[in-house]
Amino acid sequence: MTENGSGSNAETNGGPEPGERLRRRMLKQAEPGNRVTVVLGAQWGDEGKGKVVDLLAQDADMVCRCQGGNNAGHTVVVGSIEYDFHLLPSGIINPNVTAFIGNGVVVHLPGLFEEAEKNAKKGLEDWENRLIISDRAHIVFDFHQAADGVQEQQRQQQAGKNLGTTKKGIGPVYSSKAARSGLRICDLLTDFDDFSERFKVLANQHMSMYPSLDVDIDGELEKLKDYMERLRPMVRDGVYFMYEALHGPEKKILVEGANAALLDIDFGTYPFVTSSNCTVGGVCTGLGIPPQNVGEVYGVVKAYTTRVGIGAFPTEQKNDIGELLQSRGSEVGVTTGRKRRCGWLDLVLLKYAHMINGFTALALTKLDILDVFSEIKIGVAYKVDGKIIPYFPANQEVLNKVEVQYISLPGWNTSIAKSRTFEDLPTNAKDYVRFIEGHLGVPVKWIGIGKSRELMIQLF
Ligand code: GDP
Ligand code: IMO
Ligand code: MG
Repeated sequence: MTENGSGSNAETNGGPEPGERLRRRMLKQAEPGNRVTVVLGAQWGDEGKGKVVDLLAQDADMVCRCQGGNNAGHTVVVGSIEYDFHLLPSGIINPNVTAFIGNGVVVHLPGLFEEAEKNAKKGLEDWENRLIISDRAHIVFDFHQAADGVQEQQRQQQAGKNLGTTKKGIGPVYSSKAARSGLRICDLLTDFDDFSERFKVLANQHMSMYPSLDVDIDGELEKLKDYMERLRPMVRDGVYFMYEALHGPEKKILVEGANAALLDIDFGTYPFVTSSNCTVGGVCTGLGIPPQNVGEVYGVVKAYTTRVGIGAFPTEQKNDIGELLQSRGSEVGVTTGRKRRCGWLDLVLLKYAHMINGFTALALTKLDILDVFSEIKIGVAYKVDGKIIPYFPANQEVLNKVEVQYISLPGWNTSIAKSRTFEDLPTNAKDYVRFIEGHLGVPVKWIGIGKSRELMIQLF
């Protein structure tokens, strides 16, 4: 080998010189490839992410959650059984899958165990041995949930409207995290006395901020102690766990986004958003993985638009159309039981979500809900003061007053439930799908035509 490390001797020896071989081996090890597939909500949530993840999990080794908490509600229908998941990744239904809850998730321990036990009664197998939780995940306490409720009351009293949160403590726990006073799973498992002291400080802070809060400090600590030993075997250093998953024998890794692009704390319709990054950046920060490991990014798009809670909704239909979408689509929140607001598909919003996430393909769900409409509209542009605006406005006052420009497509007026291929669909349904693809410049890979697992057409 030459002094400057160039490989001039390599050619004469008939192979790469040792330095070059080492560099090549290091490069190979450093490149686990883009084997992480991501599924993200592209609208205001409830697009059918659970169903898409369940489908992809049939062929996955790991399914991860990277953000949010049990504000999410993901439904999976298998035969006559309907599972709902809030903190557990939906892909856990596949008994061969390892489920991982990453550091970006906020975990309410009683909620997690209740959810797992409820689904175990429905047939979820061996979950305790297949669930791994990052030691860096923050814990949602009961007082965070209670504080969420008090904050909502205060918003109502002080500003005349609340945010319509799920009251699962999401805003308060991410606030504790950002204020650097939150407590994590690693704190619970390392030194319970120290944990208890810090818990008391945090609980007292909340009681002084919200005098109507009555926290049973000893009672909650007692419950947490009970969860501690049950939790211990499931907890790992999430960074090393993901690193090994990426660098060991090839594994197919799936990430299940919770909430959705327009609920993202940075890019959503702020302040009517959740408190985490539900767009693609949240995958890396919420799992501790580099961006080059992310491959496919699938956007889940409902064939129309829904929203739970308060906030601007340009294509909302507060009329018979909205009511028909709501009743045909059974649009009721999985987590809160609230009716979802409904309206036409909005391509301005979807284009914006695509700009942030870089979707490689879309899953278009609930196309069957549109079976009975003779005319179907799609929002394609926004006007403000009579002029088209070439962007999705950040300011909610502006978003509230946009005038939506629609295109109108003829409906297909027939059931598509028996279609098994794209070709089987009525021409007008195919045109609807093609219009969306053409406008967004993203291919549709799946089309949902009913609730069950098998009612999904794959296009390529
Ligand atoms: P997620 O939060 O994105 O997982 O979605 P939710 O589970 O909150 O809401 C989606 C609802 O639509 C659930 O009740 C699903 O069972 C249902 N669903 C999903 N895909 C389809 C579809 O293609 N057709 C019909 N009719 N229902 C669907
Ligand atoms: P999935 O994963 C629909 C909404 C709430 C509220 C706002 C803030 O099922 O799609 P939060 O409790 O997070 O502070 O509430 O965000 N929201 C959702 N809406 N689907 C969800 O999740 C949601 N998660 C939060 O309704 O308007
Ligand atoms: Mg949901």
